Amino acid sequence: MREINGKTRVCGLMANPVEHTLSPVLHNNLAQKTGINLVYVPFKPEQEGLDAAVSGAFALNIMGLNVSVPYKQAVMDSLADIDQSAREIGAVNTLVRMEGGYKGYNTDYLGLKKALESDGISLKGKTAVILGAGGAAKSAAYLCCKEGAAKLYLLNRTLVKAEALAEELGRCFEHASITAMRTEDYKRIPEDSLTAIQTTSVGMYPHTGQAVIEDEAFYHKLETAYDVVYTPFETQFMKYAAKAGAKACNGLKMLLYQGITAFELWNHMEVDQETAEILYECMKKELKKP
Ligand code: ATR
Repeated sequence: MREINGKTRVCGLMANPVEHTLSPVLHNNLAQKTGINLVYVPFKPEQEGLDAAVSGAFALNIMGLNVSVPYKQAVMDSLADIDQSAREIGAVNTLVRMEGGYKGYNTDYLGLKKALESDGISLKGKTAVILGAGGAAKSAAYLCCKEGAAKLYLLNRTLVKAEALAEELGRCFEHASITAMRTEDYKRIPEDSLTAIQTTSVGMYPHTGQAVIEDEAFYHKLETAYDVVYTPFETQFMKYAAKAGAKACNGLKMLLYQGITAFELWNHMEVDQETAEILYECMKKELKKP
């Protein structure tokens, strides 16, 4: 048991619901492994109390916060400053204390970047397909443009949402080639060797037998299949992709690295690879708990 004393700094997560989060396991283990005197706790503000929660946290000298569903956009109104990438993505998941208030960052996109790197996946020059057009899709699509994907397809059940995301991205990346489509129109994608990033909740526990595209022909066009879902550990989307010969990964490393990046921003330090690997095993173990 770590000692909590007068010098212990507090960080936490604001989300609703918050009960199933893995972030306290991640950050408290990180604090222990790095010897930093910090505790990380869950907070569950209501929508109408969000602004008061942010100013209250600042008044209490809370060092940093993560923000998750459903507050990643709404929290942007309560911040002193917002990092450029987070502003362009339109979502903040990490608040870093500075003079006069918190600065908002998006470490989801940086977490995905590091997760892909650690699995040896490069987006440069690739044809990327994002499945979904919600919050997670925004970070993934932004990363694809930033990393120089040659072509980006945004596929969503609701076409207008994919179109709106394509338009937003087009404003930040003027020369990017971005096409919005209905999910079932994947057959119109002419390229092969695709890098697909699955960002919808389809296939997530308890609906584990489902994938957003059920047609095996789609999976034969993939070189890499990245699912942001990690419950179950091997999703149906990953199973189809692996069966078709693609490299398949789940989203646990994205979660790991978004957390590590937030921890690094709060503490002005770098977490080494060995610690990252130990933490990954801690999170995997936690996922297996009943
Ligand atoms: P998140 O922040 O996790 O990305 P979100 O913003 O609510 O969550 O977005 C959820 C995404 O999953 C959306 O792209 C949604 O499609 P719609 O825009 O058509 O709603 C997609 N999604 C959720 N359930 C789905 C289902 N049963 N079939 C297909 N897509 C689904």
